[in-house]
Amino acid sequence: MTTVNEPIAATKYATPCLPMMMGSALQPKPEPTESRHDAAAIRSIYDLNQKYEQKHAAKIWVEPALNRTLVSFQANKQRAVYRWYKYKEGFSAELVEYFLDRGKVHSGKLLDPFAGSGVALFAASARGLGAEGIELLPIGQRVIATKQLIDQHLSAADVDKLATLARTHPWTQIKTTDSLHALRITRGAYPPETANRIAQFSAYIRTETPHIADLLTFALLCILESVSYTRKDGQYLRWDHRSGRRQGKQIFDKGSIHSFDTAITAKLDQMVADLRDQGASNSLFAQPPTAHGPITLHAGSCLEILPNFSAGSFDCIMTSPPYCNRYDYTRTYALELAYLGVTEESLVDLRQAMVSCTVENREKDLIKMQPQWAKAIAVANAHPLLQMILSYLESEKQNNRLNNNGIPRMVRGYFYEMACVIQECARIMKPNAPLIMVNDNVRYAGVSISVDIILSEFAEALGFEMDSILVLPTGKGNSSQQMGLHGREPLRKCVYIWKRKK
Ligand SMILES: C[S@@+](CC[C@H](N)C(=O)[O-])C[C@H]1O[C@@H](n2cnc3c(N)ncnc32)[C@H](O)[C@@H]1O
Repeated sequence: MTTVNEPIAATKYATPCLPMMMGSALQPKPEPTESRHDAAAIRSIYDLNQKYEQKHAAKIWVEPALNRTLVSFQANKQRAVYRWYKYKEGFSAELVEYFLDRGKVHSGKLLDPFAGSGVALFAASARGLGAEGIELLPIGQRVIATKQLIDQHLSAADVDKLATLARTHPWTQIKTTDSLHALRITRGAYPPETANRIAQFSAYIRTETPHIADLLTFALLCILESVSYTRKDGQYLRWDHRSGRRQGKQIFDKGSIHSFDTAITAKLDQMVADLRDQGASNSLFAQPPTAHGPITLHAGSCLEILPNFSAGSFDCIMTSPPYCNRYDYTRTYALELAYLGVTEESLVDLRQAMVSCTVENREKDLIKMQPQWAKAIAVANAHPLLQMILSYLESEKQNNRLNNNGIPRMVRGYFYEMACVIQECARIMKPNAPLIMVNDNVRYAGVSISVDIILSEFAEALGFEMDSILVLPTGKGNSSQQMGLHGREPLRKCVYIWKRKK
């Protein structure tokens, strides 16, 4: 195994650094805020934030190579296998390859503690690296397991069988009285004929060999949203008016809702086409499977699992944690989680185990979880900008000026838990190994929160050197609610590069 010891920016992939300019990568002046918020406190936070931006200005720059397509899931849409299951919050395989090249990580072991659909793991494995991932949600775990199956164990006969099934639809002949397992938030999600077909398809799956059964289950998971009345919408599932569910004042129409047979045929055809395309080398990921590095998935919370890893054992971490943006994966992936048998109780447990990113997350007892995290907590306690933001949010809550009282607890939980994750990452990485993190800044109650700077300062205090914060060329606003109140203020979407201190 080799360790990485060149400066990350000094590679052939490095694009010229743009000088930091006020109003581009740095935070713009705040727009006049609605009087309901404490304008003086907002101003103080803005001023302090500016000092931090100036302190780090030489390390924060707009990186033209990092367009939104590359950093988001979009680039995977053109890529065989990666395109099958759209994990909206994922990044692209190309992004992982870009950073492996940029950091000259050619061997050893990569970790993604928030593995999602496993993009970092498969892209690294295809380069011959070993890859370990941690993922909390069963949907991500299932996507990863299926890709592993395909990568290592699938035969040409299995692919032919899928092609036959896509033509013959044997499940339509199955008689079953089974009903679909539903959660409170997924009840009535499918038109009745679709719910029936899913039940028939599931009964058919049980008659198949394990490999084919796994592939069919995966294909079904890929289409659940498209055959349902719902659409994933960040914080929750949006419901089409045809479902009969009322949701807010506005009527939502998701457009055409595919029939089950149409959708499953299209998905199976796509899978077969990709598998046969790659069949020439009998490989799904561009190289013969023998050249691939081993992949290990750890199912559960990284807050529980990271402390079990040995010190100094990873050559690279590439990850994208949940953002501090109220997105609730347990709600947006509820159709898939229900299908996978998650119960009401375990759904709540999963939500609470996530790194705090929803207003429902309760405070975690981090010291009870790991006494050594006192260090990370002290770092967060001592961070002036974070503490000023937390006091402000708390005071806005006391004065009934927040649109949700869970916001201060979520923001606090996010930063304190991420501090613990960062402490663990520093412990388990080799000297000089790079950590690459994709994350967005956020905005609450009129205050833009520099998640990038605060987490990078935590990293510096916990064993990393801050190499750079690469800013995506286009900024974006936050939720429409925030824009209505305060006007559009671009928030940085960034990739942070830190290096484990020697
Ligand atoms: C932004 S997504 C990662 C997407 C991934 N980069 C990909 O390309 O598919 C963040 C992931 O973190 C997971 N997650 C949240 N809290 C977690 C925890 N405590 N431990 C492990 N995974 C967690 C979520 O379920 C989600 O899949």
